[in-house]
Amino acid sequence: MCGIVGVLGKHEVAPMLVEALKRLEYRGYDSAGIATVNGGKLDRRRAVGKLVNLQDLLVHQPLAGKAGIGHTRWATHGAPTERNAHPHRAGKVSVVHNGIIENFRELRAELAECGLAPETETDTETVAMLVSHYLESGLPPVEAASKALGRLEGAFALAFLFDGEEDLIVAARKGSPLAIGHGSGEMFVGSDAIALAPMTDRITYLEEGDWAVVTRAGAEIFDESGAPVQREEKRVRLDQTQVDKAGYKHFMAKEIAQQPTVLAEALGAYLKGDEIVLPSPGLDFTEVDRLVLVACGTAYYACLTAKYWFEKLARIPVEVDIASEFRYREPPVTKGTVALFVSQSGETADTLAALRYCAGRADRIASVVNVETSTIARESDLALPIHAGVEVGVASTKAFTCQLNVLLLLAIKAAEARGRMAAAEKSELLAQLRALPGLFNAALDRDGAIAEAARKISEARDVLFLGRGMMYPLALEGALKLKEISYIHAEAYASGELKHGPIALIDKSVPVIVMAPRDGLFDKTVSNMQEVMARGGKVCLISDARGIEEAGDGIWQSIPLPDVDERLAPLLYALPAQLLAYHAAIAKGTDVDQPRNLAKSVTVE
Ligand code: AGP
Repeated sequence: MCGIVGVLGKHEVAPMLVEALKRLEYRGYDSAGIATVNGGKLDRRRAVGKLVNLQDLLVHQPLAGKAGIGHTRWATHGAPTERNAHPHRAGKVSVVHNGIIENFRELRAELAECGLAPETETDTETVAMLVSHYLESGLPPVEAASKALGRLEGAFALAFLFDGEEDLIVAARKGSPLAIGHGSGEMFVGSDAIALAPMTDRITYLEEGDWAVVTRAGAEIFDESGAPVQREEKRVRLDQTQVDKAGYKHFMAKEIAQQPTVLAEALGAYLKGDEIVLPSPGLDFTEVDRLVLVACGTAYYACLTAKYWFEKLARIPVEVDIASEFRYREPPVTKGTVALFVSQSGETADTLAALRYCAGRADRIASVVNVETSTIARESDLALPIHAGVEVGVASTKAFTCQLNVLLLLAIKAAEARGRMAAAEKSELLAQLRALPGLFNAALDRDGAIAEAARKISEARDVLFLGRGMMYPLALEGALKLKEISYIHAEAYASGELKHGPIALIDKSVPVIVMAPRDGLFDKTVSNMQEVMARGGKVCLISDARGIEEAGDGIWQSIPLPDVDERLAPLLYALPAQLLAYHAAIAKGTDVDQPRNLAKSVTVE
């Protein structure tokens, strides 16, 4: 996905655009660019690679103007080159875009018949060409943009700037989020409130299909039919510490360290004594016959973990699915089914599409999200915030444990409602959950041992993660963390699967990271570790002190964690997996917060 921003300012806008793009880089960083209207003339600067390259360019080639748009790109159509960098331009219009125009080839062919040829490989340039074509046919800017919007299929958040228009931005939203910011004699548009935070906390979120005519006097908003609509203006306060590193070397390090605090805050939001209070309209689990959990990536692993809790504690049958598979398999959704979607950003295209497939089929649509104003949250009957705070690091850390936190609370609430958990057991488990932030702090003190193990692991080409029971989804998450920020190939297996093929991979060059608290499955896992070591494999055991002691000699590396109730182990064991990946990436010298090829939220298919 990409980040877009627009400013109609009282002063030179280039610095404001760049500051906003800094806050949007988590959405993609293949290239960046800005365009302004100065003295009635459109002009632009673009640079491939990170935003710092555009900043360097602007030092040598400044861009004046008090009206401008900006973009930071995660390449979809066309390689990450300067030519393909946004803003795109055709004739008297410039545009920045987040999303995918699915019918851009047909539109290109139509424009070619008018003798108009593209200069880039991008779908976005086609949008600029279409608006320019309508401008050339005599339509004024707003009408030209509106007519072009009606021709577009796919997902887009767009902002248009026009030659000769020093006080006009046309913005539109369909499938990708877009906010309008209200200033004093200034107006802004941006992909999210984080981008606009330095300029305003007065935010209006466009709804699906909305488009807006923005001038310094304000914004006129229209729905897809062109009818004027009113959208609520909200105060969205993001204090500075939420969007900067607060002294940490990386956002990821800050967000890992924040976990004890945000987990405690989330519990405070949901627990009133021992009562688990859900936001309105709540959920009556006595009427739930089946749960379908759908997500992508790390959020999917949170769902796989939650399956154990819902089935073991509440005896509710649970199906878990990858959103990109679910949406096209179109499974039957029977009566009594609650569909629950987990998404940090609340904008992941596949997860949103899966939600929309279930709407009207499932009894209820629920979501577990970090961004409460997101599309997934707004299209749910029940949106459950995880209270993780802004997560900027592309590798999800605190959001994962906060997702698990809410999912576990839901499972406990379901167990109680269905008579599967007595008050005393619930009270005891909640007491353990309240104590968990303290265990996180104790585990954070093991950072030195984890960093040492990570440095050794960083020398490997291939790494295996193993886990049993609820540690299997944690092994999957550990492998994802390692590969996505250190670029080391890593795979995860259910420990019991080792003998069914993966053990062929084992030799002395392959570290095997075993995530295994001393629980009822530990002895089985010890056998697996012996099988690995008998073949020269190097075992790094993440366990509690008793587990490490019982595993005996021969363990290559061990990471001791505090004892934890096995039902809560998935939350705590996420921490060493996060830190292993973090330190391995440091050792490899990769970009921890903005790993290559990735973006924070995949708002395109
Ligand atoms: C996790 O570290 C990755 N950044 C990625 O797998 C992410 O979890 C996935 O894209 C889902 O994002 P969402 O939670 O915003 O829907």
